[in-house]
Amino acid sequence: MVSIMITAGPTREYLDDVRFLSNGSSGRMGCALAEAARTAGHAVCLVLGPVDLAPPSGVTVFSVTSALEMQAAAEAAFQAADILIAAAAVADYRPLHRVAGKPAKQGERVTLELVPNPDIVAGLAAKRGRRVVVGFALESVSAGMAAAIARGRDKLRRKQLDLVVVNLHDAIGGVSSDVVLCYADGRDEALGLADKNLTAAHIVHAAVELWMGRQAT
Ligand code: C5P
Repeated sequence: MVSIMITAGPTREYLDDVRFLSNGSSGRMGCALAEAARTAGHAVCLVLGPVDLAPPSGVTVFSVTSALEMQAAAEAAFQAADILIAAAAVADYRPLHRVAGKPAKQGERVTLELVPNPDIVAGLAAKRGRRVVVGFALESVSAGMAAAIARGRDKLRRKQLDLVVVNLHDAIGGVSSDVVLCYADGRDEALGLADKNLTAAHIVHAAVELWMGRQAT
């Protein structure tokens, strides 16, 4: 049994007590990964942003809202993890200031000052030890799969991942996805268009194989 932690879902970055910046991530792939890992007999911890889905049973869930909350929960859970699979769609920016209450509408135009959120998976990968770290790269459909793989491989190097799951942005919110697994050793493995549950089981299997390979060295 391996200890697997997963980040999943979107984050919300509140401007005030009512309005927020976010994205359309459903959390479906993250929850499918958690279920696949649990079904394969592993201990699973799911750090989950705000989603409509009920997380799978038999999994330890930490519910979070913002990227900073997700980072804190992920850092704590990482201590006990052998494998991190970062499937969360973390908001790239958050408002510099959060205002209390619900301020009234202002004039014609407003300027919102945003600051970058921390890169959660990159921060954890930098202190991984022998852990396996898997990331996702959701790329623009218009660029095509070859360009998406190149961008995914760039993320793999920059974030020091062992494996990056490349998919195209039309997968967001859907029940199926067409992914390519890009490994740090240079291998690419196309899984083809498949239900997210099947794809999730494959990703978990690939991550556990990497972890077992690392134990043998
Ligand atoms: O750079 P990009 O957002 O495309 O990277 C996607 C990968 O990085 C995913 O694995 C995502 O969960 C992770 N990520 C993160 N923290 C961020 C941004 C992305 O963990 N702030």
